[in-house]
Amino acid sequence: MVMRKINEEVLYGKFISKKGKEKNEPVSDISAGTMSVTGESNVLVAYFSLTNNRVYTADEMDAVSSASLKIEDGTGYGHAELLALAAQEVTGGDIFPIKVDDLYPETYGGAFDRHHSETGTSIRPELTEHLESIENYDTVIIIYPNWLSSMPVPVLSFLEEYDFSGKTIIPIATSQALGLGSGPEQIAAACPDAVVADGLSARSEDSVKEFLTKAGLAK
Ligand SMILES: Cc1cc2nc3c(=O)[nH]c(=O)nc-3n(C[C@H](O)[C@H](O)[C@H](O)COP(=O)(O)O)c2cc1C
Repeated sequence: MVMRKINEEVLYGKFISKKGKEKNEPVSDISAGTMSVTGESNVLVAYFSLTNNRVYTADEMDAVSSASLKIEDGTGYGHAELLALAAQEVTGGDIFPIKVDDLYPETYGGAFDRHHSETGTSIRPELTEHLESIENYDTVIIIYPNWLSSMPVPVLSFLEEYDFSGKTIIPIATSQALGLGSGPEQIAAACPDAVVADGLSARSEDSVKEFLTKAGLAK
């Protein structure tokens, strides 16, 4: 497994520092990640984003200091979250944000250290929200940020909670550079009776829409 500490400035500066004017724009609302289950679709989009899983300081609530947030219409969204919303839009599927009870630290270094201590172990952070059932879904799209070439461990908490037998799971990753990493293998290990389809290392919301449309999942 690659254990490379990525430069914090590069990582967090990616989406915001190029557009200097956005840097200090006030964020009226940081997305809390909202579950939407209609029971009308056989597609589930489940995602993990640091944005709805980390501590925020009072200063951050007033001014964006972390580029893990992307600003759209005055609201800060995580990258995985924006991809999940695009997947939901194109598939008409239900959406489930994977959220932990014990939030990750606000700094990249803090999140890195905690992930380092969790990944590859039997630790499974407790989730705050749960689905009643996943029986109705044939296809489950898992969207995650690449963390040290692996998935954030709460995604495993989610995958190990339900029975994915016979379902098709599609991995989609957002990353600074390393793409899907070992996510597909981790999903296959956690859900041995599911079919893990070819995944996507997503560069944009449009790339997700195009990929899922080609996969025949557009509503
Ligand atoms: C703890 C941590 C570890 C990361 N490790 C990697 C990595 O190994 N490779 C990579 O390309 N990106 C890495 N990233 C960058 C994230 O994958 C990327 O910023 C992603 O778009 C964040 O999505 P989010 O805003 O939904 O959390 C890491 C980010 C964090 C916070």
